[in-house]
Amino acid sequence: MATLDGPNVRLRPLEPSEYRAVFGWYNDPETVSPYDRFSVDTFDDFVRAVESAPDDPGSLAPRFGIVRRGEAAVLGVVGHYRPHPVLETVDVWYVIGDRAARGRGYGREAVALLVDHLYATTALERVGATCDVENVASYRLLEGLGFRREGTLQAALFHHGGWHDVRVYGVTRTQWAARNRPA
Ligand SMILES: CC(C)(COP(=O)(O)OP(=O)(O)OC[C@H]1O[C@@H](n2cnc3c(N)ncnc32)[C@H](O)[C@@H]1OP(=O)(O)O)[C@@H](O)C(=O)NCCC(=O)NCCS
Repeated sequence: MATLDGPNVRLRPLEPSEYRAVFGWYNDPETVSPYDRFSVDTFDDFVRAVESAPDDPGSLAPRFGIVRRGEAAVLGVVGHYRPHPVLETVDVWYVIGDRAARGRGYGREAVALLVDHLYATTALERVGATCDVENVASYRLLEGLGFRREGTLQAALFHHGGWHDVRVYGVTRTQWAARNRPA
């Protein structure tokens, strides 16, 4: 699988020695899902999901680890999946698991690298993302990249004991190519 380099971060496949740390994020609801559904997986199922993801377009497993350029420690993960059986679109998702690394632009840069990669390697015309209406960091990340808010799904996500509305975002191939990139 590819290694994708931006100015500050690199996306690369997770290494088996990192599975425990990433699995730990998945088992900490405050890290992985403050605004999302949370379910505990077994470590074996997690490893199987990560290793089979390259052959499964619908897989929600991480597809890349995020590291700072020149450093080894994985600080987050990103993934993409087909959210719908008929529609020709892919959604991206992202977690900065090292909470001390949040708010420094790594999440946005990682998602930009992933969208670049998807448009470079597929015939897709739209890349999407969804997030809880209260997940400000998530939608600001998307809006800063030029994703357009396409609407809101009402009561589409159950977490923390209640139903939540979900923002739907998308960016077309043309919009992505035309966006202003940082110098
Ligand atoms: C969402 C997440 C990946 C953002 O990553 P990040 O590296 O911290 O974000 P960035 O530093 O790239 O910042 C992206 C934007 O979010 C804003 N932001 C970051 N943290 C924020 C916070 N806690 N509250 C409000 N805005 C925040 C930044 O200011 C920036 O917006 P701006 O340029 O308009 O000012 C990270 O907060 C996270 O892992 N959250 C938990 C998992 C999650 O919710 N994933 C998304 C599921 S839809």
